Amino acid sequence: MTDPNLKYNSKPIFAQVVRDRLSRRQFLKGAGIVASAATVPLLPACGSSVFSQPTRVASPLRLTFNEVAQGLDQHLHVPQGYSHQVLLRWGDPIFQQVAEFDPQQQSAKNQNLQFGFNNDFVGFIPLPLGSQNSQHGLLVVNHEHTKAHLMHPGSPKDADLSLEQTKIDLAAHGLSVVEVKRQANGEWQLVKASRYNRRITAETPMQLSGWARGHQRMKTLYSKNGVDTWGTYGNCAGGVTPWGTVLTAEENINKYFKGDLDNCPEQENYRRFGFKGDVRKSWGLHFDRWDLDKNPQEGLHAGWIVEIDPFDAQSKPRKLTSLGRFKHEGCNVHINTDGRVVAYMGDDQKFEYVYRFISRDTYRAGNTAADRAFNLTLLDNGELSVAQFSEDGSLHWQPLVYGQGPLTPANGFHSQADIALDTRKAADLLAATPMDRPEDVEVNPVNGKVYVMLTKNDSRKPDQLNAPNPRAYNKAGQVVELIAPQGDHSASVFKWDLTLLAGNPKQTITNYHTATSDNGWLACPDNCAFDNLGHLWLSTDGAEDHGVADGLWAMPVDNPLHGLSKRFLRCPIGAELCGPFFTPDNTTLFCAIQHPGGDSTFDKPDTRWPDFADDMPCRPALVAIWKDDGGVVGS
Ligand code: FEO
Ligand code: CA
Ligand code: CA
Repeated sequence: MTDPNLKYNSKPIFAQVVRDRLSRRQFLKGAGIVASAATVPLLPACGSSVFSQPTRVASPLRLTFNEVAQGLDQHLHVPQGYSHQVLLRWGDPIFQQVAEFDPQQQSAKNQNLQFGFNNDFVGFIPLPLGSQNSQHGLLVVNHEHTKAHLMHPGSPKDADLSLEQTKIDLAAHGLSVVEVKRQANGEWQLVKASRYNRRITAETPMQLSGWARGHQRMKTLYSKNGVDTWGTYGNCAGGVTPWGTVLTAEENINKYFKGDLDNCPEQENYRRFGFKGDVRKSWGLHFDRWDLDKNPQEGLHAGWIVEIDPFDAQSKPRKLTSLGRFKHEGCNVHINTDGRVVAYMGDDQKFEYVYRFISRDTYRAGNTAADRAFNLTLLDNGELSVAQFSEDGSLHWQPLVYGQGPLTPANGFHSQADIALDTRKAADLLAATPMDRPEDVEVNPVNGKVYVMLTKNDSRKPDQLNAPNPRAYNKAGQVVELIAPQGDHSASVFKWDLTLLAGNPKQTITNYHTATSDNGWLACPDNCAFDNLGHLWLSTDGAEDHGVADGLWAMPVDNPLHGLSKRFLRCPIGAELCGPFFTPDNTTLFCAIQHPGGDSTFDKPDTRWPDFADDMPCRPALVAIWKDDGGVVGS
């Protein structure tokens, strides 16, 4: 196993790094830097013709909404002139003839037919497929994890659940697929009779595809062929593909397994992934599948990007092993200028990496059954690479190819399947740049740049700094942009820049626009979305550590108002904001309110949002937000 302390190869001085990076930004010509905690000398801006992008400069006048004030209370706040609707809550039946949720009488049978817990990723896919309909579509929502102390009377610990409670837990994970329609009054309605509605849980039949499919290491007590697999869990963010499927990202899957690592054949892999061998969840106590002492290879069946076809409720989701195995935050695809598909991914753990996959084959733009069947194979064959950032502003994508460089039998790699399974180890050997927890990585559809949310890393010491991660004990996070030369996302060398150093400007160095208000600063960027004018919408997870509620901010990323972030939404106490997703016309914004009530309990919750009824616990929920005059969100 690689010693994580050996991974740091550059020790630039903080002020020098920040000055060098920020000086490259053209916005400095027209906008100042808010830097109250340190003084950073500003150098003249310099451009590069090689990397200049074809740009449609967005109108900064678009973000004219009245900012929501910073603060922290039990309520969800949206700007004046906007409405929000709680569309789906944990426990809401998504099929006809299912009993209404009763928190005192919950059962696994009901939970399998109800909206799951802790909603994270949200994707809206217009109906019919291929249309830009913003009034009717499918919502696909992840249920990342559970908090037993908020779900069950008596507020038990996750490791202490009974067999029936554990079955409820399995069913509260995974995803929900639902058909929704907009009503004349602006509200959205769930179509319970839809043929698309589906619950995917930790037990749904699936298949492995790509490099590790059928490999010896994938054969388990239950999967004799190394192809069949069951369920998905720990699903954080994700992405919608141009061919109308959803990519869901398995992230913190290590906590679901128990077993003695010292006697496990996969101990090196599991330790590098963060498995501890302790009992943090009850799953391995009641089901041998998650007991590594009895079923040692099962841990390799989790930690993947999973592709789901929401247009076929009978389809078997596929785990795309060629996209590598790590703590996947999300996966967003972009059709390159040559028609190949480029997928960007973050590995959300301290000091982990940013990845890219380029398909071998090219995307077919049609929506016939044959086109879709072909497009569903695109993410199985191609090249996976990892990002190595340089202080000179260049970024080298290091290919993870069996037999090349150090990826040989001498280092434990015997095939491309081993690279799929031991992706972090392969990336270590190629000197990838350790980052401050890479979360969403998404392409801005207007300027073509790739934006990487780096949420925070309070473990980074001063001698572990590198250029894109320039702050020690980083509690506030940053956003880095990646620039493909001439818009070619398959290039092996990009440029990169610091888009935002987040945090409270009174407490740390930041680079907001000088006109940013006291409500405009944010901390711990996590998920993101872009509107049709290319504004970056950042959701946060961790702002309460900075004294304010988590929520959603909108920010221009092009001249001249770069860095002028504005708070659009404030979460109820304890909640993080996930999955911002716009309808194609930007008139509805869907958001997931995850873990309201935070670390309080079912018996004594900090809030009973969204029901505020004495007999209801706080419930994670999906909300729809729109402007009362029907205008685009943000205006
Ligand atoms: Fe599930 Fe990376 O947050
Ligand atoms: Ca996240
Ligand atoms: Ca999160």
